[in-house]
Amino acid sequence: MTLIIFCYVLFIVFLNLITLSITMNTLILGSGGREHAFGWKIKQSPHCNKLFFAPGNGGTTSCGTNISIGVNDFSAISEFIKDEKIEMLVVGPEEPLVKGVVDYLKPIKSFESLKIIGPSKSGALLEGSKDFAKQFLIKHNIPTANYKTFTPKTFKEGINFIRSNSFPLVLKADGLAAGKGVLICKNSEEAEYFLEEILLKEKFGSAGIQVVIEQYLEGIEVSVFVLTDGKTYKILPCAKDYKRIGEGDTGMNTGGMGAISPVPFVTTGLMKKIEEKIIIPSIRGLQKDAIPYTGFLFIGLMICKDEPYVLEYNVRMGDPETEAVLPRIETDLLELFHCCAEKKLNTCDLKISTNSIATVVLASGGYPGEYEKNKKISGLEEVKDTLVFHSGTRLENGNFFTNGGRVLALSSLGKTGEEALKKSFASAEKIQWEGRYYRRDIGRDVGEMGC
Ligand code: AMP
Ligand code: GLY
Repeated sequence: MTLIIFCYVLFIVFLNLITLSITMNTLILGSGGREHAFGWKIKQSPHCNKLFFAPGNGGTTSCGTNISIGVNDFSAISEFIKDEKIEMLVVGPEEPLVKGVVDYLKPIKSFESLKIIGPSKSGALLEGSKDFAKQFLIKHNIPTANYKTFTPKTFKEGINFIRSNSFPLVLKADGLAAGKGVLICKNSEEAEYFLEEILLKEKFGSAGIQVVIEQYLEGIEVSVFVLTDGKTYKILPCAKDYKRIGEGDTGMNTGGMGAISPVPFVTTGLMKKIEEKIIIPSIRGLQKDAIPYTGFLFIGLMICKDEPYVLEYNVRMGDPETEAVLPRIETDLLELFHCCAEKKLNTCDLKISTNSIATVVLASGGYPGEYEKNKKISGLEEVKDTLVFHSGTRLENGNFFTNGGRVLALSSLGKTGEEALKKSFASAEKIQWEGRYYRRDIGRDVGEMGC
């Protein structure tokens, strides 16, 4: 018995030694702060050889090479992987995953050893279809709000269902809708109007062929991130996102205006509950349903009276949550990705720092509505104590210009949440452009961070 254990330990050490001796050419798909943060972390790895972003942004040029290939141009991506001998592909956003980039690349004979972080098309349905995700949750006994799904054919039943319910009620367009497909309806008129807009007037095009109508859950939200090889998993630091544009969580929804990690109300006890009731059944569910999955599972939770309920699955990391989560990970990210893609994630250690990170997003004036681009950004060189991740910038003759709604994500580290927040807000004041906006209340609703 002792000999078997000894041989097993030797074998694991041997496997890890092989991993440690590898250097990789890596391609990151995407152009946001999330992808810049991935690049920043991967660049620190001794296993990182060449690093590319497709298409990247002004900031990603500081850690790699941008190539002008779109995230959904699968044939150009495939050519590039061949030409540059890419060994690791990290898919940042959901769209190429839902469209099947993994299924496109995997069968190509010369890509047999290509490692990909991102699930297959069948796994990506967890984000690509709200109805699929709800069916999965119910089938595997994972706590979530009660719901019913309606189609254009069952529109009238949908109206009757709305009228027989109490409010608020949550309506969700089935497919990807760029964060605009969810409406919390305060009364029947609003819900009936929205149902008609999506199902009969195709407000979201094919995204609205089905509508999930679900019970409103009252509570506090948290984002939980899991890296999985389909069999085993690692729980990454959780984060709290600030989705609304206005202070005090008011106004329109955005991609996210800031994030904090850790989240004070997520105690060890609550995390254990989340693991037992949500994470384990989710990973087992993927296995039972024979859904191959290698990559991130981002679980949006509502905590109601200390009980977790799943609001949504995403099949990627969050943005700006990644910018708050990755700086807390001490493990070599390429090593972690390599273990994950090789389906031996359990042999890799995940080390997480106890420090706090506060991320404040600087956005263009007008976002998430119409906004102007091409504003010159000044003051970047004055920022010393903060990581500056670029989301929507472009670089021209050594100067950065705004090129999107969310422009920069400022992540600072502190022994306490307060220290981290203070640094990020101070850095935010140093960076200027015409119309720049940020929320001054990030992290202010949850008390002291750092537990
Ligand atoms: P989703 O894309 O499903 O996460 O929904 C976007 C946002 O709508 C969530 O982050 C929540 O703030 C809110 N939301 C979604 N579903 C519910 C629900 N059942 N009850 C309360 N709020 C919800
Ligand atoms: N920040 C929310 C998301 O990435 O979906």
